[in-house]
Amino acid sequence: MSKVRLLSGESVPLEMHKVCMVQRIHLRPVEDRVRSIVEAGCNTFLLRNRDVFLDMLTDSGVNAMSSDQYAAMMQADDSYAGSETFYRLEAVLKDVFGMRYFLPAHQGRACENIISKVLVRPGTVALMNYHFTTTKAHITMMGGSIEEIVSDEGRRISSDLPFKGDVDIGKLKNAIARHGRDGIAFMRIEAGTNLIGGQPVSMANMREVSRICRDSGVPLVYDASLLADNLYFIKTRDAAYRDADMKSITREITSMMDIVYFSARKLGSARGGGMLVSDEGLFLKLRDLVPLFEGFLTYGGMSIREMEAMAVGIRETMDIDVISQTPIFVEALCNELAAKGVPVVTPPGGLGCHIDATEFCGHIPQAQYRAGALAAAAFIAGGVRGMERGTISEQRNDDGSERFAEMELLRLAIPKRVFTLSQIKYVADRIAWLHRNRGLIGGLEFMEEPKVLRFFFGKLRSVTDWPAILARKFREDFGDSL
Ligand SMILES: Cc1ncc(COP(=O)(O)O)c(C=O)c1O
Repeated sequence: MSKVRLLSGESVPLEMHKVCMVQRIHLRPVEDRVRSIVEAGCNTFLLRNRDVFLDMLTDSGVNAMSSDQYAAMMQADDSYAGSETFYRLEAVLKDVFGMRYFLPAHQGRACENIISKVLVRPGTVALMNYHFTTTKAHITMMGGSIEEIVSDEGRRISSDLPFKGDVDIGKLKNAIARHGRDGIAFMRIEAGTNLIGGQPVSMANMREVSRICRDSGVPLVYDASLLADNLYFIKTRDAAYRDADMKSITREITSMMDIVYFSARKLGSARGGGMLVSDEGLFLKLRDLVPLFEGFLTYGGMSIREMEAMAVGIRETMDIDVISQTPIFVEALCNELAAKGVPVVTPPGGLGCHIDATEFCGHIPQAQYRAGALAAAAFIAGGVRGMERGTISEQRNDDGSERFAEMELLRLAIPKRVFTLSQIKYVADRIAWLHRNRGLIGGLEFMEEPKVLRFFFGKLRSVTDWPAILARKFREDFGDSL
């Protein structure tokens, strides 16, 4: 993806790829959309794809793959042990990340499981710029807890700071002084910090965190799942890296880390995951758990074909034209929404456009899950499936009380090279319409609430008949348009 200037002077995103294969999608009438979301317990995770027009739930496992990735899948060497595919993948990862050892796992959370089992003891704290849902669940399941030490600016919806995912160095020093080395399981930096709006971490900040962790003996873990976006932002927002190539930026980052892990459903546009380390002792501890939870060391629960696709995908991640469509489209969508008065997280980050549900739906009490309600309403308005990233995505406190999210967001993910600019413009239009009619959106309440990761398959209902009322307004305004 590049930006080019048109004759009019306007600067527009231009795709640096052509479409080789397409998949039919359907935009159902608004009445059907209401029926589908109600049947799905007002939870966008429970919608069926046949009812969804634009699937903006996540980028996980749904980035478009390149023809080179598909071609590589055909040369897979399928074998329980000793597969040549594994050695090809291992060579690419060691080369790109510059680390000594690679361990495969079936996805990102599988790495989190193994890392938590090795490093978390009951009563210890894992420090991090910000949590991710599955990360936190694995740490707490091991009897640990988490402490988020992202910069104050990272917790603000709107800001000019280019690297809002940065760790607050004062808070890091304070946490180490308070807990002591033995009270800390590890420090974790999440690239392209997911839950605060896909916000990147600066190189200078990582350097400082790494220095402090090394001085105090705290292991530093890097979640590289959203590395691609973070690389793009380092290159485009930090003048010192304007001329640097992606691989040298990647290696500079990984040289500061003790463990690097990733979800290849995101990084590398395939399906799988893995961990990289350089320290032999740590490698051996992690390695022992891979066959137990994942599978033999040369496949780690992954399909061999996906591993071939991952090897190519990781190499392609080092090409800025490959990884830039998401951040450029996120910026385009955020800017268009902001221009129409819709409150979005700024500066635009990676991964997707994040809408501030607190500002959008401030009339809905937080206890009635305003971000979840907005996600359901966005589906009704445009057949657009986004993801609630707010209180529903939190876990209840141990005493059963609700833990209210600091930010109530609706995330509209933009998987790599999947959507066109006209689809993005359509989304902006329907969300702007919804914003104009936001007073019609009402709250939600749980009907079925799982204890762990309730956002995945919890079922809710609307507290009033607002979905049908919203659909009637849609008909009034759009006539027989879909
Ligand atoms: C930052 C981050 N870490 C970890 C994970 C977990 O990865 P997976 O979905 O492959 O288990 C995700 C998934 O979305 C993520 O965004």
